Amino acid sequence: MLPSQPWFDLREGVLHAEGVPLPELASRYGTPLYVYSRAALQAAWQGYADALHGRRGLICYGVKANSNLAILHEFQRLGAGFDIVSGGELARVLAAGAQPETIVFSGVGKQAWEIRAALDAGILCFNVESAGELECIARVAADCGRQAPISLRVNPDVDAHTHPYISTGLKDNKFGVPIQDARALYHRARSLPALRIVGVDCHIGSQITTTGPWLDALDKLLGLIEQLAADGIALQHLDLGGGLAIRYTDETPPHPAELLDPVFAALHARGLGHLQVVLEPGRSLVGNAGVLLTEVLYLKRGETRQFAIVDAAMNDLMRPALYEAWHGVRPVRPRDDDTPETWDIVGPICESGDWLARGRPLAIAPGDWLALESAGAYAFSMASQYNSRPRAAEILVDGDQAWLVRPRETVHELYAQERIPGQPPHPEVRGP
Ligand code: LLP
Repeated sequence: MLPSQPWFDLREGVLHAEGVPLPELASRYGTPLYVYSRAALQAAWQGYADALHGRRGLICYGVKANSNLAILHEFQRLGAGFDIVSGGELARVLAAGAQPETIVFSGVGKQAWEIRAALDAGILCFNVESAGELECIARVAADCGRQAPISLRVNPDVDAHTHPYISTGLKDNKFGVPIQDARALYHRARSLPALRIVGVDCHIGSQITTTGPWLDALDKLLGLIEQLAADGIALQHLDLGGGLAIRYTDETPPHPAELLDPVFAALHARGLGHLQVVLEPGRSLVGNAGVLLTEVLYLKRGETRQFAIVDAAMNDLMRPALYEAWHGVRPVRPRDDDTPETWDIVGPICESGDWLARGRPLAIAPGDWLALESAGAYAFSMASQYNSRPRAAEILVDGDQAWLVRPRETVHELYAQERIPGQPPHPEVRGP
């Protein structure tokens, strides 16, 4: 059993996703291949549902973590709302069947067309990140004769103790409105008839392993909410963003209840029990519901390091290159009788940064399949076609059944939209 991924389990020496042997999927669909487990999605969701147990809350799945329609549809079916950051994500969640009144729209650079689309859809709330954006939303809403529901994303200046690239709640970060400016901006919002104030929000970072930073942020937000109430500005919801960690290796992330219990307790203690609590979890709902399957192409023994060159690369799983992130590596058919050697798992891309894992003890040979663990979040959604590599296929496993939820891109699709000036579109040539 993968320690962090109970739905990806060894059965008779072969790694399975639920009831489906991974070699079957790798031979049928090729590699690299993302494989997701529906049961794992449901279990992660249940963690949040249990933590709420009937209290006033809304879990808005952070779509950027994995935006495949099948995943969105599953969460929609389970009762999730959605946290989106672009017009593209809005279109996706609507295509997956989302109820517009469960959608919150975050992001520092919302454009007029995206604001218009969200107003047309009738979303729950715009999480506004600056004074300029507040004015823009008011203008766009007035132009189309609507009232925009808004929340201010407050930057509480707390340290989430995570990787600097995924820390968002410090005053040095580009996100949110400084907490000391929030009150004045709420007053400005109140003066604009095209805006309707509905809440306050923050998002302090990602892969956060303790609840302390949220509770520090909460304390600051509650002070603001009380001040606003005294000014006659009543809020309906408090959105604490996403960020709950998952286990990649030996992390022990808090259960959602460990976050929500003190949040509800603090609200009640301060007479704010009427507020709806919103969370925007992404990674913790999908991260450990997926693996990335890859085939070992070549073993290369260098003078100082040994490289296992695989057919997945940084374009498929960017996290190691970008954040030096750690992903477990598991042979799909472990060679238990062979002595492990130490390998760097690297891709075919022409960059030294193209590595997926380093210094891993593994007994492997060319042709073996490996599972890169915890690849359900920020893997496919951050994938690119760099080096003209078609993006990999995605499979959703449900018990004994495997659904192809996104076919592998073809080589022709890589350039089908491109034009040589003065020439017609290039005809398809045979690709893999
Ligand atoms: N809400 C907002 C406003 C966000 O910016 C994010 C993530 C989330 C919710 C979801 O956070 P989560 O629960 O997934 O931590 N690519 C990085 C992670 C970037 C997170 C960006 N914002 C990675 O691979 O670690």
